[in-house]
Amino acid sequence: MMHAVYPGSFDPFTNGHLDVVRRASRLFDKVTVAVLYNPDKLKSFMFSVGERMQIISEAVADLENVEVDTFDGLLADYMRHKGARIIVKGLRAVSDYEYELQMAHLNRQLNPDAETLFIMAATRWSFISSSMVKEIARHGGDVSRFVPEPTLRALRAHYENREG
Ligand code: PNS
Repeated sequence: MMHAVYPGSFDPFTNGHLDVVRRASRLFDKVTVAVLYNPDKLKSFMFSVGERMQIISEAVADLENVEVDTFDGLLADYMRHKGARIIVKGLRAVSDYEYELQMAHLNRQLNPDAETLFIMAATRWSFISSSMVKEIARHGGDVSRFVPEPTLRALRAHYENREG
């Protein structure tokens, strides 16, 4: 059984993330989207882990071999806990590479059984990031082309509540 874990912050989940999940779901028997719970108090998320998981669950509802989970602590330990050996990461441009390479090597040191595989999202999503989506949304811009419907609804609700 080829079980892959796709870890990330997903704050929020974009069309780029969704594209990587779809591609992974065609390659592996099972894919777990693993949402980072709370790395440290320095990093603040727009959405709670529950909200991020809810958004992703709705966005991947049509993919039968995909589950959504959360993890805390080291990814290497979570891989052991799940009995999974494939870490899927998305790569956009060369700018992602250095950081991803470092993490892949560290994760290999921490868990030699887990192999990191990179999947490139479709070209049209290669310029999107969660932080850019948040920036556009914060300034009232239209992000509907960049994120799936559940993310769009959550962003709208977030800003409506803040204004109210
Ligand atoms: O979506 P992101 O923010 O690029 O995802 C990063 C993530 C969650 C994959 C990474 O920060 C992570 O694995 N965090 C858990 C702690 C850990 O294992 N770090 C890597 C080894 S030092």
